[in-house]
Amino acid sequence: MDVFRVQGGARLVGEVTVTGAKNSSLKLMAVALLAPGRTTIHAVPHILDVTIMAELLRRLGCGVDYDAATETAVIDVPEHIEHRADYDLVRRMRASIAVLGPLIARTGSADVALPGGDAIGSRGLDMHIAGLERMGATATSEHGYLVVQAPASGLTGTHVYLDFPSVGATETLLMASVTAHGQTIIDNAAREPEIVDICQMLIKMGAQIEGVGTSLLTVTGVESLAPTEHTTVPDRIVAGSWAVAAAMTQGDITIHHGNAAHLAIALEKLATAGAEIDSWDGGFRVTMNQRPKAVDIVTLPYPGFATDLQPQFIAMNAIADGTAMVTENLFEARFRFVQELSRLGAEVRTDGHHALVRGKQTLSGAPVEATDIRAGLGLVLAGLVAQGETIVHCVDHIDRGYVRLEEQLAALGAAIVRETIPDLG
Ligand code: UD1
Repeated sequence: MDVFRVQGGARLVGEVTVTGAKNSSLKLMAVALLAPGRTTIHAVPHILDVTIMAELLRRLGCGVDYDAATETAVIDVPEHIEHRADYDLVRRMRASIAVLGPLIARTGSADVALPGGDAIGSRGLDMHIAGLERMGATATSEHGYLVVQAPASGLTGTHVYLDFPSVGATETLLMASVTAHGQTIIDNAAREPEIVDICQMLIKMGAQIEGVGTSLLTVTGVESLAPTEHTTVPDRIVAGSWAVAAAMTQGDITIHHGNAAHLAIALEKLATAGAEIDSWDGGFRVTMNQRPKAVDIVTLPYPGFATDLQPQFIAMNAIADGTAMVTENLFEARFRFVQELSRLGAEVRTDGHHALVRGKQTLSGAPVEATDIRAGLGLVLAGLVAQGETIVHCVDHIDRGYVRLEEQLAALGAAIVRETIPDLG
């Protein structure tokens, strides 16, 4: 039961280096399943979710060697792999669903426990399933497992329209279609940089994909894929979180290995809030010399404003000059963390998928609880500007997405320590 003990008031100044994207690395590890042999993935962050994905791949029959020092995962995929993703792992990490596509492609069937994961709203799998069914698969739900079966002759390419550019459904269909018969067109596909990263790795493995980075992906099935070596795209959400940290604390942070182009709208919002942004190839710097001005936010699929940065921006708006309207279009329960933020004195009213945030001069430190990765970050940022001490509970959520956050913040001048408190049961 670890907590972060944060004393508010420090201006964060210094340099940070961003790791590879969690949301890409986990999927790239699943992509490895598509080719028997040894695949090496670099810039895989040393976070709990990577450990869970490594364990899942081992249970499927792979050898996985993860070296935290070099952030490299070496995955040995056998000719024959299992096709079952157990509840105990899927429950801990929803991204386990990423093995669905590769398992069907490789073995013709997949039994994947229905996921739990982040407490950020109901997240359906209907588009994953509808797409696979259009390719000829059958899907049923049995004893808490999603059971998908391809026809004996394998999946067949077709035209799939997604109701919504779902990241997960786009990934499942990509991975299922690369070795399917004929051509698969994924229409209204997600365009996130992490999807581009997956496409690039698949192409290196021999896949034929056109339209990478657009909402129309055309995949021409190939016989088989070969193992490869790939480096994960930088984590734009971690980079964006550092950018907000600089703006909120009226600090000055240089973010190495951050890709400003992947954060175009978020950085534009910070500039509107009063920050100065300098960007170059391979990094950017955020400097703030005033109290932030309130900025309205509307979350949307990429290239829209990322829902994974929404709690951090609510935290900034909570101490900004003015009132901001924040609209959440992806995950309805993501405002749950607002209740925790209110414990610090933030004035936020929510109505459905809108939140009205009235900026206050100061927040006041209090004990709070992280409910998911990004909410946890929002609370830590709020604690950094609150008067007195904030204790953030359940930091295991934060550890799922940020590598040694407290050490990195302390290096920038924050007063933050990790403490283990006894579990009273
Ligand atoms: C991924 C990211 C998450 C990010 C999100 C949106 C990972 C591990 N997680 O989540 O951090 O916030 O993209 O950028 O990469 N939906 C359906 N039916 C489906 C699929 C999705 O209704 O078949 C809905 C979900 O309930 C949700 C919305 O679509 O409301 C977005 O989901 P999706 O884009 O698939 O996000 P994830 O892949 O779950």
